[in-house]
Amino acid sequence: MGEADIARALESLTVEEKAALLSGQSIWEAAGAQRLGVLPVTLTDGPHGLRMQDPDAQGFDLGASAPATCFPTAAALGSSWDPGLLTRIGQALGAEARAAGVSVLLGPGVNIKRSPLCGRNFEYLSEDPVVAGRLGAALVRGIQDAGVGACAKHFAANNQETDRMRVSAEVDERTLREVYLPAFEHIVGVARPCTVMAAYNRVNGVHAAQHRWLLTTVLREEWGFGGVVVSDWCAVTDPVAALAAGLDLEMPGTGGSSAERIVAAVRAGQVTQAALDQAVARVLALPGRTGTGERPAGEPGWPEHHGLARLAAAESAVLLKNEGAILPLDPARGTRVAVIGELARTPVFQGGGSSQVNAIRVDNVLDALTAASERLVLSFEPGYTLSGQDDGTLRAEAVSAAAAADTVLLFLGLPPGAETEGTDRADITLPGNQLRLLQEVAEVSQRVVVVLANGGVVEVASWEENAAVILEGWLGGQAGGAAIADLLLGRANPCGRLAETIPLCLADNPSYLNFPGSEGTVTYGERLYVGYRYYDAKDLPVSYPFGHGLSYTTFAYSGLEATVEGQGDDAAVHVRFTLANTGAVAGKEVAQVYVRDLESSVDRPVRELRAFAKVEVAAGQSTSVEFTLRGRDLAFWSTARGGWTVEAGDFEVSVGASSRDLRLTATVTVDMPPLARGLTGESTVSEWLADPAGGPLLRHAMNNPDGPSRAADPAVLEAIGPLPLSRLNTMSGGRIDIDGLLSQLAATAVVP
Ligand code: BGC
Repeated sequence: MGEADIARALESLTVEEKAALLSGQSIWEAAGAQRLGVLPVTLTDGPHGLRMQDPDAQGFDLGASAPATCFPTAAALGSSWDPGLLTRIGQALGAEARAAGVSVLLGPGVNIKRSPLCGRNFEYLSEDPVVAGRLGAALVRGIQDAGVGACAKHFAANNQETDRMRVSAEVDERTLREVYLPAFEHIVGVARPCTVMAAYNRVNGVHAAQHRWLLTTVLREEWGFGGVVVSDWCAVTDPVAALAAGLDLEMPGTGGSSAERIVAAVRAGQVTQAALDQAVARVLALPGRTGTGERPAGEPGWPEHHGLARLAAAESAVLLKNEGAILPLDPARGTRVAVIGELARTPVFQGGGSSQVNAIRVDNVLDALTAASERLVLSFEPGYTLSGQDDGTLRAEAVSAAAAADTVLLFLGLPPGAETEGTDRADITLPGNQLRLLQEVAEVSQRVVVVLANGGVVEVASWEENAAVILEGWLGGQAGGAAIADLLLGRANPCGRLAETIPLCLADNPSYLNFPGSEGTVTYGERLYVGYRYYDAKDLPVSYPFGHGLSYTTFAYSGLEATVEGQGDDAAVHVRFTLANTGAVAGKEVAQVYVRDLESSVDRPVRELRAFAKVEVAAGQSTSVEFTLRGRDLAFWSTARGGWTVEAGDFEVSVGASSRDLRLTATVTVDMPPLARGLTGESTVSEWLADPAGGPLLRHAMNNPDGPSRAADPAVLEAIGPLPLSRLNTMSGGRIDIDGLLSQLAATAVVP
C-alpha cells in the first residue's frame, strides 16, 4: 500500500479493525484486513536458516519445520569478519524465505556477547558492536535484496536466557549507547531493516516491548527507524502500554484479547487515536516492502546454498594455534591419520530453540575427509560418547589408534543440547570424558590436532598444551564438516578471526560477578568494559584475544599514515598502510583498526575497534589498505551533555591482527572548533581552560590587573583547576565577572 492508500484506509477502518491489525492472526502471521484486501504476511525464523513450521501448526514445534539450508550459526559467521559473505548468505536466506511464501525473516540476532555463558551466544555475532553492526547490516541487506523483510533482534540488552522474560538489565545510558545499542543503530542507519524485534527482558525496569525511550525516542526519533517494531513472541505483557511506547505489532496472535484492550484504551482516551493510526499505518506499509508471500517459480537453489554454506563455514573457522605447521596436512610428513571423536561422524552444527533448522543435508567431516584425502590412510575411532558417560573401552581403542598414527585429528566440542535458547550454560568447559581422552591421546602422540565444535567459547587453557593445533570450527551449519576437511587438507586457507575473546577461565570474564543476576535484576556492573575492552584495560592474560586467528601464510604491515581533516565531531581520520603476504600461499588477513583516546576527561577503554577489512593477498604480493574514521569513531557518550562528544587532543590509531597484536601505531591530534560546551559558573576552572572558546576568555580575565592574577601561576592553577568557577570567584573576593564571561562566550562561540 502506498501512502495515499494508507491514508484512505485509516479513514475507512474502524477502531476495532485497526486494533486487530496490531497483533497476529496466528502464531506466524500478522493480521490482514480482509475488507481492504490487505493480506496477512508471514514472519518466521530465523538467523541462519529458514524454520518454516506447518502453517496450521498450533504452537512451537521445533522438530517439524520444512527442510531448509542450515548456514553456519552467527557465532561462526561473526568470526568470518566478511560483510560481503554475509550479504550473499542473506540473499540465499531471502531466496529460501520467498520460495516458502515468507515475508519477514526473523534475523539477524545482533545482541552483544556480554557473558560466555549466554545460551544464545551461538545466535549472536560478537562481543564488539562494530563487528555485530557491520555484519548484521550485511545480512539485512542480503535478505532484503531478495525481497524479504529482515528483523534486527532482540532490541535491547537481551544478553542472557536466565529469567529472560522478566529480568531487568540494569545498565547505564553511556554503556547502552556505546556497547549495546550501536549495532542496532548502525543496521537501522545503513540497511533499513523492515522490522526490529523488541526483546523479552526489561531494561532498567521497563519491558523492552513497552519501553518508550527505546522504541520511540531512540529508535524512531533519533535513528529515524521507519519500519515495524514487532514484539518477540509473547514479550508483551500490556498491549496498551506497548502501543503507547511505540510497538506496532504484537506477536503471536492473542485471539483478539489485545485488540479488545486497545479498543477500550482508545475509547477511554488512554491512548491517542494518533498513536493507534501511526502503528496501523506502519503495519499496513509493511507488505509493500516485504511482499505478501508471492512465491517465485522453481526451487531456491539448494545445491548452490549448500556450497555457500560450505564456503562460509571455511571462512569462519579460526585457527587458534598451529605449532610445527602441522596444518595443512602434508602426506610427505606421514600418511597415517587417526580421526578420533564421535563428533567427526555425528556433527553438532547448530544450537537449539527457535533458530533450529531442519537441514536439507548434513556433511560430516569423516566422510568428507575419506572422500577427499587420496594420499592419506585414515582410521576412525569414536573415542567418547556424546552423552558424556565415561567409556574406557572407546577411549582405549582411540588411544591405540592415535599411537599407531602419524597425526591425530581429534574432534571435540559441546554435545547436542548444550547450547540452546531458553537456558544459559553453567560453565564453559568441554565435557570431562572428552578431556580425559585428549589427555591420554596426548601421551602417545605429539601431533594432535584438536578441532572444536561449539557456539559460545569454551575454555582451552587447562588442556591446550596437549594439542599442537587447535582449529575452532564453531557450530558450522550443514556443510561445516566438508569445510573443516577443506581446511585440514589445505584446500582452503583459514581466515576466520575471533569475534569473542577466549578468556583463561570463566571467572576472568567481566560480567562474572553480575551474571545472571538475582531477584529479577541483572546489573551491568562492568559498564563499558565488555570483552576485550575489559581484558585490555586490565592487561589481563587471555587464552586468545579478540580478533586473533592464524593463516597458512603470514602478513606484514608497513607504512602507516594517519591524517586528520576537519575538527571535532566533523573530523575525519584517513588511515592508510600496506599489507604484504609474506608467505608461500594466497590468504586473507583481517586488518583491524583500533582507536585510543590519549587525553580524555572520562574513563575510556584502552582501545576500541573502529574499522576492519578482510583483504585477500596473493603470495608475495602486497596491497594498500585504506579506512576513513569519522568523528563518531573518536567520541564517547557524554551523560552530562546527553550526546556524543569528541574531545580535542591526541588519539592513537593502531592497525593490527588482533586487539593484542597491534603492528603499527600513529598518533593524530584532533582540534576542536570554538564550541562552548555548556560552560556555566559551576564548570570547573579546568573545564573553562580546556574549552577552546572559554579558555582564552578566562585566561584573559585571570591575567587582568583586576583579576586574581596569581591564579595564572601553574602551581596555583593545579590547585584551583578542580574548583567550580563560582567558588574561585568567592575565594578571590568576587574579582571574576562570571556573567561578563558568559556573555562574551555567547558572543564568540558556536553553541551546539
Ligand atoms: C525468540 C525469537 C524468535 C521467536 C519466534 C522467540 O522465542 O526469542 O528470537 O524469533 O521466538 O520463534
